[in-house]
Amino acid sequence: MENDLGNYRKSYEKGALLLKDTPENPMELFQKWFYEIDEHFPEDETNAMTLSTIGLDSYPKSRVVLLKKYTYEGFIFYTNYTSEKGKAITANPNVCLSFFWHGAERQIIIKGKAEKIIENLSDGYFDSRPRGSQLSAIVSNQSEPIESREFLEKKLADLEQRFDGIEVPRPDFWGGYIVKPVEIEFWQGRANRLHDRIHYRLDESFFWTKTRLSP
Ligand SMILES: Cc1cc2nc3c(=O)[nH]c(=O)nc-3n(C[C@H](O)[C@H](O)[C@H](O)COP(=O)(O)O)c2cc1C
Repeated sequence: MENDLGNYRKSYEKGALLLKDTPENPMELFQKWFYEIDEHFPEDETNAMTLSTIGLDSYPKSRVVLLKKYTYEGFIFYTNYTSEKGKAITANPNVCLSFFWHGAERQIIIKGKAEKIIENLSDGYFDSRPRGSQLSAIVSNQSEPIESREFLEKKLADLEQRFDGIEVPRPDFWGGYIVKPVEIEFWQGRANRLHDRIHYRLDESFFWTKTRLSP
């Protein structure tokens, strides 16, 4: 099979990112871009981000997860702590998050350290989830092989019965991680491939320094 994609070419012309317009703290630029995408390009699923980890097999692996909260401290997502990504993070907490917002021709790449959030924060988020999602979190032994779809659905039906009329408790293998950033790069597509890239790095005194990178 062969599919030559050499002619796939798009000119990026929707914006610009100048160093003089960027704040000292990259989280403020993140918030500005997030709001802009949410308002003008909601079809881009603004809070969907790619999480890359270094696996126990030494290979990097990327998958999409949903950003559920961000603060000056970092980026929070929820998952199964015993999943492939959970095991990878336990062995090596250095991770990468990235966003590609197609509509505005923007990308953000974040390197950081992932750590579990405190349990009562995970409890609070778990309690806010729809009941179906709560039960599925219990049912799914995420990343492990299962014999069939029917097996999963039967397990869910059994749990629905077991928890009928009862609040579903958060299982201890499910919860949040916060990724505390050490580097954040903002990429704005420009014409003729002369893209804008502004890169922030956290120094030893916990101050952000910023530089423009060559496209
Ligand atoms: C749009 C989208 C959102 C997702 N959100 C999450 C999420 O918030 N948490 C999660 O554990 N998996 C989420 N997933 C599934 C993951 O991409 C992945 O399949 C799963 O977490 C298992 O990954 P692992 O085996 O590498 O641990 C999402 C997938 C997509 C496509």
